Amino acid sequence: MCGIVGYVGEKDCADILISALSKLEYRGYDSAGIAVFENGKIQVEKTKGRLKDLEEKLKAGHKPVGHCGIGHTRWATHGEPSDINSHPHGNKRVSVVHNGIIENYIKLKAFLIKKGYEFISETDTEIVAKLLDYYYKGNPVETIAHVISEVEGSYGLGIVFADFPDKVFAVRKDSPLIIGAGENENFIASDVPAILKYTRDYYLLEQNEIAVITKDNIEIFDIHGSTIEKELQHANWDEEAAEKGGYEHFMLKEIHEQPTALKTTITPRVMENMPFLEECGITSDMLNRFQKIYIVACGTAMHAGVVGKYVIEKLARIEVTVDIASEFRYREPVLTENDLVILISQSGETADTKAVLRLAKESHVTTLSIVNVKGSSIARESDFVIYTHAGPEISVASTKAYSVQLSIMYLFAFQLAYAKGEISKERCSELTKMLTNIPTLIEKTLEVEAQCQYVASKLVNADSLLYIGRGLDYALSMEGSLKLKEISYIHSEAYAAGELKHGTISLVTKTMNIIAVATQDKLFDKTISNVKEVKARGARVILVCKEGVEMTEDVADYMVHVPKVEDDILMPLITAVPLQLIAYYTSVLRGCDVDKPRNLAKSVTVE
Ligand code: M6R
Repeated sequence: MCGIVGYVGEKDCADILISALSKLEYRGYDSAGIAVFENGKIQVEKTKGRLKDLEEKLKAGHKPVGHCGIGHTRWATHGEPSDINSHPHGNKRVSVVHNGIIENYIKLKAFLIKKGYEFISETDTEIVAKLLDYYYKGNPVETIAHVISEVEGSYGLGIVFADFPDKVFAVRKDSPLIIGAGENENFIASDVPAILKYTRDYYLLEQNEIAVITKDNIEIFDIHGSTIEKELQHANWDEEAAEKGGYEHFMLKEIHEQPTALKTTITPRVMENMPFLEECGITSDMLNRFQKIYIVACGTAMHAGVVGKYVIEKLARIEVTVDIASEFRYREPVLTENDLVILISQSGETADTKAVLRLAKESHVTTLSIVNVKGSSIARESDFVIYTHAGPEISVASTKAYSVQLSIMYLFAFQLAYAKGEISKERCSELTKMLTNIPTLIEKTLEVEAQCQYVASKLVNADSLLYIGRGLDYALSMEGSLKLKEISYIHSEAYAAGELKHGTISLVTKTMNIIAVATQDKLFDKTISNVKEVKARGARVILVCKEGVEMTEDVADYMVHVPKVEDDILMPLITAVPLQLIAYYTSVLRGCDVDKPRNLAKSVTVE
């Protein structure tokens, strides 16, 4: 998704904008640009490509020198990636960078054309710039308020007006923006990592609030122009935490951060070996009220929900439905007041998940979100929120965020099962203790790294892969498969092992690679029978199983052993690690852009 930054201070603005944008690269982008006041005039420089292309362009051509400006990394929605479609957009009077989508841009464009405006790009953002220009009569805040009352859709906007060469303006709706508060300098940014080099203090801009920043002042107004007082936020992680810390890629660093992320997420939610979610407002009385649970999310977060379904249904004996947010929001689900809708999201800004949250709220259904980014829209708008404490996840491929989402699914299931009287206090305490021991077991699991690298070397030329498993192993396979395909560009699919012979096994020949996950004792023999079926058809099999399991070569070509947890129900937390590592090393060996896979964005804030 696009990244927005803005700066007013005493330093070289172009340098700061580019450095801040580089911290937002994880969001995914295809072009970059800046608008900087030079001698009182707005100078725009932009290009298709990466930030280094923009830097080269500035070096070869003109680098605007000034102390106030805005910058942008664009992830194309309206119009292909090109120099012209890159942001900023505007004219001599106003310049705009935008994240989001203006839904009524065709109507607005027609209006502006009638008023004599000409358009050079294919973007919806140019409409905003021209609309600002059209309504501008000398008061930027009034103008912005007027414009946002006319545009429909989502936006985070950074704006400069030529009449105010020492000010940056910002406004947002359904697209995140923060205002960084520094010393003799202030910032706007789409996300906190952009400003950490300069300050850890920031304000969260709410829906339709308008910020005006100068070198030593930050003002925030509502749509009517009244001043709003806001609480200053403090990021408790530093720039270092958002950097690679010696690892070759963020993804590898984040895989290795899982023990810590899990510890930080689990510890405050456990008291005397029992799950403790009361601090998030989740009480046993409240839990007892629900008769049905919907878990709704996208991608990896949805896969965490699938594990959650298995665990909640098994322990708490309550029906759980897991839905892809983009499907749920349009499928007219039957929601009643005794339902609970759980939204899972790392970023807390995913457009489809956010839309489901709003749909649930309109239907007066209780909403609980499990979110990593503090203060994000989904966290703020849900009735209850349980924060995961993974720290910043920079790599597009989600790893540590998935593990911590799983850990909350477990704690929630334990508390719910106990509240409903489906498990005893002893059993609940026993499971909770096992969960608190998971970070240590993951440290041990990380020792399979070299084995995973070896397995990856066998997959590097694969055209297609199947991940198979049963029960929780199948739920985990979905995530393993997504991880591999998104970063290595090898086609792969997760399949319930028992379903293979209903069609998909016809694909299995000696060119097929199969990753079979078999960690559930109860289902082990059945999965192995399915493994034998694919092996008999020539497939190359990689078996991921618990330590101590041995198989002959006629069952598995390679084996990856992971540590055992006393109860198989917790195995997905452990087994996720080798699947992430296999995906990681396959991507590395294929020379792919591991942290920023093609066509993908970290935070999908458009539908
Ligand atoms: O921020 P979210 O958790 O809501 O994001 C949802 C998906 O876009 C995300 O999990 C995506 O599938 C992962 N980046 C894949 O690794």
